[in-house]
Amino acid sequence: MKVGILTGGGDCPGLNAVIRAIVRKSLQFGWECIGIENGWKGLLDLDVFRLDLNSVSGILQKGGTILGTSRTNPYKIETGEKTVFENAAKIGMDALVAVGGEDTLGVANKLAQKGFKVVGVPKTIDNDLSGTDYTFGFDTAVNIAMDAIDRIHTTAESHHRVMIVEVMGRHAGWIAMHSGIAAGADIILIPENVIQINDILKVVARRRERGKKFSIIVVAEGAVISESDQQEAKIVVQDEKLDSFGHVRLGGISNILSDIIERKTGIETRSVVLGHIQRGGSPTAFDRVLGSRFGVYSVEMIRDGKFGRMAALRGAEIVDIPFDEAVLKLKTVDDKFYDVARVFFS
Ligand code: F6P
Repeated sequence: MKVGILTGGGDCPGLNAVIRAIVRKSLQFGWECIGIENGWKGLLDLDVFRLDLNSVSGILQKGGTILGTSRTNPYKIETGEKTVFENAAKIGMDALVAVGGEDTLGVANKLAQKGFKVVGVPKTIDNDLSGTDYTFGFDTAVNIAMDAIDRIHTTAESHHRVMIVEVMGRHAGWIAMHSGIAAGADIILIPENVIQINDILKVVARRRERGKKFSIIVVAEGAVISESDQQEAKIVVQDEKLDSFGHVRLGGISNILSDIIERKTGIETRSVVLGHIQRGGSPTAFDRVLGSRFGVYSVEMIRDGKFGRMAALRGAEIVDIPFDEAVLKLKTVDDKFYDVARVFFS
């Protein structure tokens, strides 16, 4: 059996733990592994290499992916699907593990429907894939963001400022919620809830009245704010251009929010965009273990012929679910969880 591995979409802490686990488990079965470079692009361009025990030695603690990644969508290329099938046959690949988020696994889903032998591993710092309680990479991103917010408290307190920290997460507020609650943010703004500026200003004012002369606001990059009932709440983008999966580049809401708050209150306000720092560096123990478990499980899925399915974490168990269940709907923050965060908005 020859197993291909590819990692697609944004890089994510824990990817190397998954790759290592797939190779180690495959070798245990007496199988061979092929690394496909740069996501689906490597399967289109036939950039592949053999992965052995030495190729995955010493990579567990490293961030990023030794295979490289890209946001290439074979379905945006005229003969993309055909080329993927032809190249898989050319290299004698019997099965593929696609490690990625909704985009990469969306492609895997379409290929699986045409008979391509592929299983999936859920990867994203955004934690927005349905069907799994957690994706690997999320815990590392949350811990980096929490640490940053802890540090930002220093300047907020010393200068009596409003500090706004913008975190990633695309159209889901998971990173903002977890890092914000963990670091004691005074307000958390997420895409799932539109908050009016006046409500934010009230929280800032209330804190000052009770002697707290600083505020920390955590805002998800995909959050929307509205200046009044009459004004439409808009998403803030860095670039209107769409990538090959139809996504715009989000970012910049914290700067806009900062200007509005300073203008309306006269309080010195600063914004900090954490950006790709959240995806960088060594994965946490949680992500290394989850990645290793997903990797081992994906090889067992191939052994059992469970193609067209994705490994998922349910409670403490690793299970497998159909791709459709994972990719057709984004997993977003529900009201019940947001109500928990609201308890601390003061
Ligand atoms: O999906 C992961 C993610 O980091 C999002 O949180 C963010 O919006 C996006 O990727 C950024 O993508 P890129 O690295 O291509 O700018």
